[in-house]
Amino acid sequence: MTQKRLGVGVLGAHAWAEKAHLPGYAAYDRAKLVAICDVIPERARAMAEMFGIEKVYSDPRDLINDPDVETVDVCTPTETHLPLSLAAIEAGKHVLCEKPLASDAKDAFMAARAADVKGVRTKLGFTFRYSPAIRQIHAWIQDGTLGEIFHVHGLEQNSQFLDPQFPLRQVSSDANWNQLIPSSIVGYGSHLLDLVRWCVGEFSSVTSSMRNFIPERVVRGFDGMQKIQVEDGTVALAEFASGAHGILQTSYIAIGNYPGVELRVYGSKGAAVARLVEEFGIAETLHFATPDSVEFKKIEIPASALPPGTTLETPWPELYYRNLVRHFVDEILDDTPAECTFFDGAKSQEVVNAIVKAHLERRWVDLPQTVSERPL
Ligand SMILES: NC(=O)c1ccc[n+]([C@@H]2O[C@H](COP(=O)([O-])OP(=O)(O)OC[C@H]3O[C@@H](n4cnc5c(N)ncnc54)[C@H](O)[C@@H]3O)[C@@H](O)[C@H]2O)c1
Repeated sequence: MTQKRLGVGVLGAHAWAEKAHLPGYAAYDRAKLVAICDVIPERARAMAEMFGIEKVYSDPRDLINDPDVETVDVCTPTETHLPLSLAAIEAGKHVLCEKPLASDAKDAFMAARAADVKGVRTKLGFTFRYSPAIRQIHAWIQDGTLGEIFHVHGLEQNSQFLDPQFPLRQVSSDANWNQLIPSSIVGYGSHLLDLVRWCVGEFSSVTSSMRNFIPERVVRGFDGMQKIQVEDGTVALAEFASGAHGILQTSYIAIGNYPGVELRVYGSKGAAVARLVEEFGIAETLHFATPDSVEFKKIEIPASALPPGTTLETPWPELYYRNLVRHFVDEILDDTPAECTFFDGAKSQEVVNAIVKAHLERRWVDLPQTVSERPL
């Protein structure tokens, strides 16, 4: 294992950078936070002071072109993810980008190809792939413990925007307010669909229903209550290439705590339920059952499955991001196989797009069975 430390520059110095990305790098001794940038300079300065970062920029191009920055971390608003990632790739930097990478899967595939051509590494900020409970379920599927997978149930739901007075932030500037605006399926669904695809394999067909449940709410950047048909809940049925069936739901008006991800996988030899809902100070739980012992038993998550220095009482953004960042830094420094890349982001976006289409056209929509990712 090389002793080198990877130079990291972070774009965006606000809520999620403070809670997840920056603590992740700061906790890992193979990474060095060398620069931070925000178009609101005082935000960048505040984070630089908090995390001991030497270089502070207000223009993302300056950070991207800084020779000490080997990896660019994009933690800015959704609409900026694609252009900033492409600029970093063009400059020959590795990129970790928040989800979603783009609103159209075609653009996300294009970015994945651009990174391949440049020979740089990518990672999408699919936080929940780095939950110890989810990683255990993935391992049980891979090693055959669960047998043939029949059913998968995936939820990402919480009450983030149940209160109409709490400002909604996920509305793109070009959204048409006179029609249903896909929202929870974009913000939450991109994570959930990636998780399900990672565990169960490629989607083959989807159908769905999307709805606006709360018709008036406060929207960031606008004064007073706004009539806005934002999709705040989606249900979908899925068929997978493996033959498995799926039931999926995203909602940000469902009572319950963050992050509200649940994954239930039922196979011929075993079934597993991961619940990533921060309750009573614990980030997640894992349960397991077999055909001859059908009562789900709680599985203790071993300390070895957690990033060093964390427990299940560590706040979930930091717990999962420490793990995600560690994996990305190790993949780059050790030249090990890439996981959770821009290609995976594009595949997840393809399913988001298909779910939206299925709702609008009231039908099943088939997914292209794309060839697998070209390795670096
Ligand atoms: N993976 C997850 O679980 C998860 C959870 C929460 C948020 N997120 C995502 O993380 C991202 C950041 O979230 P947030 O809540 O901190 O958003 P935010 O809007 O509160 O903060 C983003 C910051 O980026 C800055 N910024 C905007 N354009 C910039 C540019 N071109 N260059 C540099 N800085 C720029 C803004 O000034 C702001 O300070 C969003 O895309 C959000 O969807 C992901």
